[in-house]
Amino acid sequence: MSWKPIGHVSEIATGDMKRFTVDGEDITVYHLEDGWYATSDTCTHQDCSLSEGDVEGHEIVCWCHGGAFDIKTGSATRMPCTRPVETFPVRIQDDEIELEIE
Ligand code: FES
Repeated sequence: MSWKPIGHVSEIATGDMKRFTVDGEDITVYHLEDGWYATSDTCTHQDCSLSEGDVEGHEIVCWCHGGAFDIKTGSATRMPCTRPVETFPVRIQDDEIELEIE
C-alpha cells in the first residue's frame, strides 16, 4: 500500500465529485462537507459509472437504476444495489489529493 497523488484540491468543490483513473482503475473522489472520500467508480449492480450519478448527503446515487451507496463505508443503502462498493483512504498533502492504493 502506498499514497499516490492524483490531483489538486481545486479540482473538486465541496459537495462535488470527480472520477480519476489510477493504475487502470476508475475511482471517484468525493469532497463532502466533513472531508474527502473515495470509492470505486463502478456500481456493483450493473457496472454503471457512479461519478455520473448524484451525491445526496453521504450517499452516491447511481443514475442507472437509482441504487445507492454510503460514500464513507461503501455499503449498499438502496436497492437494487446489495453488494458494497470498494472504498479507498484519501488524504490531502500540500493541496494535493492522495489515495492509498495497492
Ligand atoms: S447499475 Fe447502478 S443501480 Fe443499477
